[in-house]
Amino acid sequence: MKVEIFENAEQIGIKVGSQLASAIRHNPKIVLGLATGASPIPTYDYLSKLCSVGELSFKDVTTFNLDEYCHLPREDKNSYYSFMNEHLFSKTDINPANIHFLNGNTDNDEKECERYNRMLVEAGLIDIQLLGIGTNGHIGFNEPAEKYTKGAFKIALTESTRKSNSIYFDENPMPTHALTMGIGNIMSAKKIIMIATGEKKQQAVKAMIEGEVTPKCPASILQFHPSVTVYLDKAAAALL
Ligand code: PGA
Repeated sequence: MKVEIFENAEQIGIKVGSQLASAIRHNPKIVLGLATGASPIPTYDYLSKLCSVGELSFKDVTTFNLDEYCHLPREDKNSYYSFMNEHLFSKTDINPANIHFLNGNTDNDEKECERYNRMLVEAGLIDIQLLGIGTNGHIGFNEPAEKYTKGAFKIALTESTRKSNSIYFDENPMPTHALTMGIGNIMSAKKIIMIATGEKKQQAVKAMIEGEVTPKCPASILQFHPSVTVYLDKAAAALL
């Protein structure tokens, strides 16, 4: 695992954003795995700016998002689809047909997860996967567990995740379940970029990088991936 420490989140956004931009320019048909949450916002802002001045095109880029809430309409402001639209997609020239999401409103979760696993393989797997980390060590919505998961699946969100994310739910109640890529999907990515910022992430970051590899801290599995770079601000890196 390569670890890089920056002064603040904005600097990480510039670094990761420019890295992604050059990867897209090098391979305009790149397949990106994308994350939601506060961590990737500065990166998406940087990419959006490049697109707005015509210095970058997403025309042939394919994206797969990590996860989506169950039983939350796609149009709801808190769906991860809405998040991606607001922070990135609407500011680029991406072809909507190339945007992939798990459908949390399906009436057959198992079939939907199989469809997603198949689509990932058909797309040739993910070239670069962007990740954040939960305060409990989750990646995607792979919550701490007794064993690792392989493909996409339905998860009951833990109390700690519901507490962290409930700040966004002022109108509707926070969903209890989500569909998420499994650890196997994430580990199949050719390259992984992890971003963690802020004091709240200190313990999870330490466990991910220096702790035992265990499904009790799902992000610790990244120690076994051949190409991971972790971008931290000083606060998130303080216990290393
Ligand atoms: P955050 O979430 O980027 O909003 O901190 C990360 C995560 O929960 O995976």
